[in-house]
Amino acid sequence: MTPMDMLLTRASTDRLADPAPSDAQLSEILAAAMRAPDHGKLRPWRYVVIRDDARPLMAERIVASMLRLDANAPEFKIEKRRKRFSTMPLILALGMHLRPDNKIPMWEQEMAVAAATMNVLNALHATGFGGVWVSGDVAEDPVLTEELGFPAPHRLAGFLFIGTPDGEQPAPKRSDPAEFTAPWTGKPVSFAADRT
Ligand SMILES: Cc1cc2nc3c(=O)[nH]c(=O)nc-3n(C[C@H](O)[C@H](O)[C@H](O)COP(=O)(O)O)c2cc1C
Repeated sequence: MTPMDMLLTRASTDRLADPAPSDAQLSEILAAAMRAPDHGKLRPWRYVVIRDDARPLMAERIVASMLRLDANAPEFKIEKRRKRFSTMPLILALGMHLRPDNKIPMWEQEMAVAAATMNVLNALHATGFGGVWVSGDVAEDPVLTEELGFPAPHRLAGFLFIGTPDGEQPAPKRSDPAEFTAPWTGKPVSFAADRT
């Protein structure tokens, strides 16, 4: 696979089985995260590794968070989340170590975390693994965030579910880049993607 093939064939998936990346493989994958663009070299990304018996513990924190946010959360939703967090081969909680007083604006700090996450997704694919980035309102629950080690102003950017792609994988339809690209000729541009 050429590097471009690698980029163009990546797709998110939650159809994941063991094995998850070993600690050594994960370390190599996360080395790609450290290559993300990062204005001010603030290194705002943090990765909490949730493996093995830590998964059901995390699942219970997730359920508690769901119930905190909605005491009437439907049972099927609770069970779905409990199962996913208990059984995904590996989970990374994506921490954002943010510095509101820094001259680098917060949105740039958050974008650096996102860029690093994209590198992780690509590195997973390049090494034969797969994953998906998920969030949900629990990712904004300050209690859960703090339980993971990110008290305000730090935040969570969500979670990565990680493992080995299992069985038939979805082949998502991809957009034509031409619809999202326009030449600038001195006037504000418009994009085919935004025209009905
Ligand atoms: C910050 C962020 C949060 C996301 N949260 C969720 C989520 O909670 N649930 C979900 O199904 N997809 C979520 N997604 C979308 C998936 O990660 C993924 O991009 C989508 O399934 C499309 O797959 P693709 O990456 O192959 O295009 C999120 C994406 C981002 C960037």
